Amino acid sequence: MSQETNVRCLGLMSTVARANVRHCLPPTSSGVTRPLTEETQMKVVVAGATGLIGSRTVARLRDHGVEVVPISRGEGVDVSTGEGLAQVLRTAEVLVDVTDAPSRDQQVSTDFFTTSTSNLLKAAAAAGVGHYVALSVVGADRVGSGWFRAKAAQEDLVRHTPIPYSVVRATPFHESVAAAAVAGTRSDGVHVPPLLLRPVAADDVATTVAHVAVGLPEFGVVEAAGPEEVRLDDATAALLGTLGRTDPVVADARAPFFGAVVEERALLPGPDAHLGHHTFAQWLKSR
Ligand SMILES: NC(=O)c1ccc[n+]([C@@H]2O[C@H](COP(=O)([O-])OP(=O)(O)OC[C@H]3O[C@@H](n4cnc5c(N)ncnc54)[C@H](OP(=O)(O)O)[C@@H]3O)[C@@H](O)[C@H]2O)c1
Repeated sequence: MSQETNVRCLGLMSTVARANVRHCLPPTSSGVTRPLTEETQMKVVVAGATGLIGSRTVARLRDHGVEVVPISRGEGVDVSTGEGLAQVLRTAEVLVDVTDAPSRDQQVSTDFFTTSTSNLLKAAAAAGVGHYVALSVVGADRVGSGWFRAKAAQEDLVRHTPIPYSVVRATPFHESVAAAAVAGTRSDGVHVPPLLLRPVAADDVATTVAHVAVGLPEFGVVEAAGPEEVRLDDATAALLGTLGRTDPVVADARAPFFGAVVEERALLPGPDAHLGHHTFAQWLKSR
């Protein structure tokens, strides 16, 4: 594989290169990575395209000239039943899954992710998709309960597929601090665990997902995280302050986060995470 092709496959392409994207395959048995064809227009299907991350991923890919097919129930495609998947995946090179479950409940979210991921993988294999990208969460391999357990089950299915794959694990989004405040509101204050987080902007996650989608399959995990470490209880207090709310924040180690009791450092990324640019304070100001 030439150095030029390698560069194209590792990053978002320039608009000049957009019509002539080389599709990248995993290493052959000899360890050599090779392009699928000399000049192939890359087609990326995005499941969850109407969501927080999906809408931004679609925009990011289109900004760089990639042909994108958005999937959502409004488009007549349902990942839980499999309806419409075969049709939409025809001639797709890459499938990006950024759908989310309707609840943080462990059973509901496990049912959603195992069913939808099985349907997506089966349809992708039948269509000959060359790269499957799934968005998961930092801590999926460590927390072991709640919605994290469901994300781990999703990852397991992806890891065991014969389709070349990449898993992007993001830290909790800025929006998840607001969700934790809503979930933790009690008569005596807002109960949240004193977790250390690197909350990340949806735009920064979408940039990493788009980058990974046009690159070589990782056969492993890429992490995406925010630029700063904060404590969830401090971030919650800052959020309530901007809303003019005076309820006290109770740092409660037993309070659930995404349906699980989480250790203080379990959601911090490793040293190689892609760090975003947008801080939690900037997000608060932009609300
Ligand atoms: N929240 C966090 O802090 C966090 C952190 C790390 C990772 N993640 C992961 O990031 C991913 C994206 O999250 P998000 O916040 O962008 O989700 P979101 O805004 O809730 O969007 C969910 C998307 O899934 C689609 N969807 C749901 N059920 C579907 C079905 N049966 N068939 C087809 N499409 C369906 C929705 O489309 P329609 O409703 O229009 O059909 C929507 O486009 C999720 O996998 C989540 O687990 C989240």
